[in-house]
Amino acid sequence: MLEIIELTKKFGEVKAVNGISFQVNEGEIFGLLGENGAGKTTTLRMLATMLQPTSGTAILGGYDLIREPEKVRSRIGILFGGESGLYDRLTAAENIAYFGRLNNMDEGKLKERIRELAKVFDMEEYIDRRAGKFSKGMKQKVAFARSIVHNPDIMLFDEPTSGLDVSAIRNVHEFILDCKAQGKTIVLSSHTMSEVEKLCDRIGIIHKGNLVAQGTIAELLEQHSCGSMEEVFVKLVGEKL
Ligand SMILES: Nc1ncnc2c1ncn2[C@@H]1O[C@H](COP(=O)(O)OP(=O)(O)O)[C@@H](O)[C@H]1O
Ligand SMILES: [Mg+2]
Repeated sequence: MLEIIELTKKFGEVKAVNGISFQVNEGEIFGLLGENGAGKTTTLRMLATMLQPTSGTAILGGYDLIREPEKVRSRIGILFGGESGLYDRLTAAENIAYFGRLNNMDEGKLKERIRELAKVFDMEEYIDRRAGKFSKGMKQKVAFARSIVHNPDIMLFDEPTSGLDVSAIRNVHEFILDCKAQGKTIVLSSHTMSEVEKLCDRIGIIHKGNLVAQGTIAELLEQHSCGSMEEVFVKLVGEKL
């Protein structure tokens, strides 16, 4: 379970995130939908304990973000869009192990877990090869494995498909749906309407740091008397996505 309570981040005079609150249940995907600059990454970076909130907090897996950031950190998996961020000189296994150690996994467990992940993601052939020369698809699998090496029950995805080609996008969507099937609690940010409509159980529309609406697609359509999510978005934000 994830509960976000009046979470706020100011950068100087800029209120990047302005007192947003929402809840996400186990096995549910909550989509944060918004334009560039809406406050999605700032929200997810706060939840990931990478950025200190100005005020407000969140409870992740029973732990308070402000009071117990290390406990929170150990319960969450992160997959942020953009570069995969693998170390070229390390093997796939070493890249994954590096993240396991950051999460204080013990060496025995880590070894076993990497073997398991190599099997799950069909990486056994290249698990001990250096990542530098991997194809995009191979790197993507290593990044997936790395994000769940410590078996987190909460997953944070920040625009995980931005800049990817069609088959890579499909892989990400499958991975997210697998996480959901395993009962993980998921927050996904996106500026792509179709992605959010396809994957999310509930959607929050974020605009200039404010959560201007939240609910299931059916609820949002009814609340705003609209026939499509695009109409809802234009009504609330005044722009087409
Ligand atoms: N480190 C920072 N310093 C100053 N302003 C920032 C910083 N990070 C984000 N912002 C500002 O906060 C707002 C929200 O940004 P961001 O969370 O990155 O939006 P999104 O991910 O939805 O595109 C923007 O106005 C952005 O310019
Ligand atoms: Mg962003």
